[in-house]
Amino acid sequence: MVLDLMELDPGGPGATPTGQPQKAGDGRKSYVVQGNTYVVDNRYDLVSQVGKGSYSFVCKARDGKSGKFVAIKKIFDVFDDLVDARRILREVVLLRYLRHPNVITLVHIMRPRTSVKSFKDLYLVLEFMDTDLHKVVRSRQKLTEAHRKYLSYQLLRALAFMHSKRVIHRDIKPGNLLVSVNSELKVCDFGLARGGVPALATEGLELTDYVVTRWYRPPEMLLMARYTGGIDLWSAGCVIAEMVTRRAVFPGRDYIHQLNLITELIGVPEPDDVAFATSSEARQFVRNMTRKDVSGAFQTKLAAASPACFDLITKLLVFNPFKRISATEAMKHTWLADVEDMFDEDPEVPEVSEPDWQFDQIEISEENLRRLLWREMELTQDPSDDEPVAATESPKETGTGLVGMAMNLLQRVGRGLSGSKNEVPQKPEGPAAASAAQPPPNRHTDAQPS
Ligand SMILES: Nc1ncnc2c1ncn2[C@@H]1O[C@H](COP(=O)(O)OP(=O)(O)OP(=O)(O)O)[C@@H](O)[C@H]1O
Ligand SMILES: [Mg+2]
Repeated sequence: MVLDLMELDPGGPGATPTGQPQKAGDGRKSYVVQGNTYVVDNRYDLVSQVGKGSYSFVCKARDGKSGKFVAIKKIFDVFDDLVDARRILREVVLLRYLRHPNVITLVHIMRPRTSVKSFKDLYLVLEFMDTDLHKVVRSRQKLTEAHRKYLSYQLLRALAFMHSKRVIHRDIKPGNLLVSVNSELKVCDFGLARGGVPALATEGLELTDYVVTRWYRPPEMLLMARYTGGIDLWSAGCVIAEMVTRRAVFPGRDYIHQLNLITELIGVPEPDDVAFATSSEARQFVRNMTRKDVSGAFQTKLAAASPACFDLITKLLVFNPFKRISATEAMKHTWLADVEDMFDEDPEVPEVSEPDWQFDQIEISEENLRRLLWREMELTQDPSDDEPVAATESPKETGTGLVGMAMNLLQRVGRGLSGSKNEVPQKPEGPAAASAAQPPPNRHTDAQPS
């Protein structure tokens, strides 16, 4: 199946060409693209800037060694904010752990020429994808029922895999779903993910921080309830619906508006279906919402969807997370029956042992974040690179207390790490938070949307 992406060719119109490089010494060269400097190993020729995130810029580059295109994600000033540094660490650990055809591959991390104590920027080398689903949906690109099925199936397949590995992505949205011209889909951006989640389907996690970009955020999060892997399925429902309508289905301006938009379409839930909310204020808030007859509203909004597609969306966009379909069940839905055969079982990949999730439950200093990121660089080093990361610069010492704990974990780093932003607790927005202090804005999940 081939998506015609002529209008979206990231190396063509729409992308920012990079121009000529300057020598940067030390086997590297530098480019300036839209005011951003990229200093890359000589083996890479930058082609164009293809993406921008809240803390990164992404360029398409040609790898002279392999002859292949790669994406280079520059994360600037990693340690300016330790929350961001932890996010990056989480991303690289998860990318190393989650090897699957529908998850983006981290090829390697470029070796900084400075020391573990002084490096500032990080360059992740990722497999290159032609575009992302946000750009596709907003373009004039035709999306047929066959495309929608094929892309949806791959999204669900990625989620089923992640959930089987006890990982919740927590930021599924079209901008984090990379797409190729032949309609392959790969999930990227694991900076908000959470690993080591116990009994993913039943035991909820405590909500301690903002996750999921608002438009894709499920009711349990808006109501500050405990949550499970079901949050990714709600977001997936929003994404599939968006492929039909070509615009976000719940483009809320704030959490109240978000909840209103949801209930205007799927109805105000019965008290039983809000019982999952642990906060009585949250339950009361829903009870007080105006009940309107919404029959047909959802169907009208999704008029362009086939009945089977509509049926799957209604099983994903279910207010009560415990009644929402799982990724594995969704893959078996009749709408997807004819694409299911196009995919083999998940392929065998070399076993990567499960990261030590404990890591994210401890406070972590900049020093230890630096060491752990450095260690990740060693673990993802391209064997064909001439200059290995200098062994003398890698962490050696051990200690006691938190440092010792981090270092012990480091020594077992084959099992990796991940976690949440506990070091800077942020109260989520929601009715139950109304009386709490205003949370600081979160540039990752409240910056809308893509
Ligand atoms: N491997 C890749 N191939 C092609 N394009 C990519 C690749 N990775 C990322 N991009 C592009 O860059 C954008 C930003 O990437 P990503 O989501 O990883 O960054 P981010 O800084 O974590 O973003 P944010 O926090 O704002 O969601 C993507 O939406 C996509 O358009
Ligand atoms: Mg992103």
